[in-house]
Amino acid sequence: MRALLAGGAGYVGAHTAVALLEAGHEVVLLDDLSNASAAVAERIGRITGKDVSLVSGDATDEGAIAAVFDEHGPFDAIVHLAAFKAVGESTQKPLDYYDNNLNTTFALLRVGMARGIRSFLFSSTGTVYSDPADLPFTEESKTSVDLSNAYSKSKRMNEVVLEDVARVNPDLDVTVLRYFNPVGAHPSGLIGEDPKGVPNNLMPYVQRVAIGELDRVGVFGTDYDTPDGTGLRDYIHVVDLAEGHVAALEKGEPGYTVYNLGTGEPVSVLQLIASFEKAIGRELPKDLLERRAGDVTATYCDPSKAERELGWKAKLTIDDASRDAWKWQSQNPQGFAGV
Ligand code: UD1
Repeated sequence: MRALLAGGAGYVGAHTAVALLEAGHEVVLLDDLSNASAAVAERIGRITGKDVSLVSGDATDEGAIAAVFDEHGPFDAIVHLAAFKAVGESTQKPLDYYDNNLNTTFALLRVGMARGIRSFLFSSTGTVYSDPADLPFTEESKTSVDLSNAYSKSKRMNEVVLEDVARVNPDLDVTVLRYFNPVGAHPSGLIGEDPKGVPNNLMPYVQRVAIGELDRVGVFGTDYDTPDGTGLRDYIHVVDLAEGHVAALEKGEPGYTVYNLGTGEPVSVLQLIASFEKAIGRELPKDLLERRAGDVTATYCDPSKAERELGWKAKLTIDDASRDAWKWQSQNPQGFAGV
């Protein structure tokens, strides 16, 4: 099949492009490059041996999307990964987040449906689940729009929109993928996560300490009700996550379908840091700090629906993710800026 990946030059998008190409599909990337680099296309080409078109454009702009269809279409599917995703920033700039994260969906749906796409795959988040009593979260667990930040709320709002659109468009397969915590990089070391400025998320922060760009890892909270007192998350290797997109697209379930993409294995902050230290063969300086506002004790999923229905299961471990993240970071100490 031929897929348009909106936000395709980003962290998850680039890995998804590689997975789709390696499965024999064709991809075109549309990205405004606000949080991604044009160098990604050449790197994807180097990994896969295939040419990739990257169009620089805004996925809220119907005209820009239509132009991509004119030049590179027709497409069977749109994979929508174009979003603002900085949780802290989203609480400061809610209008920007709702505007971008919803209008991308509206524009991609309008143009895509007018041009006859069959599938629409949406990148959502495990943070839409609202009740810790439901752990591990299944797709049936309670969700809310009453979440702690505008980023997560915008993702849940999108899901609501997509469910309604799917109901009245039975020829369109709408699939929502709820990601847990994506980590790691392609094992080639050619593509990986490249956050601008100081990273907010744990694994990229640890990576920057490992290359000496940041001084010490801060462990946010050691008094949680967990085995070692630190927070538990479901860290999924980005290559596994990318393959989940391929499986979902190939299945093409009619109607509106939701899948959790995670490992189902809770890993603590200290376990993740220990895994990274093993990968680099040395200890990292750490500070045990207070809890970070807005953090939950634990979040991890039951990924069995994706295994049952898509035949997809995460295969890689946190140690694989640490090894691959380190390869990416050590080979590209300035990320794509150094390319
Ligand atoms: C965050 C987002 C979530 C998003 C996900 C993407 C919040 C509230 N949630 O999840 O919406 O989908 O990233 O991966 O930001 N930690 C440290 N030190 C650090 C950074 C983090 O100890 O420097 C801890 C946190 O307290 C948490 C764990 O590491 O227990 C994971 O944090 P992080 O990587 O930021 O992800 P989430 O907060 O789970």
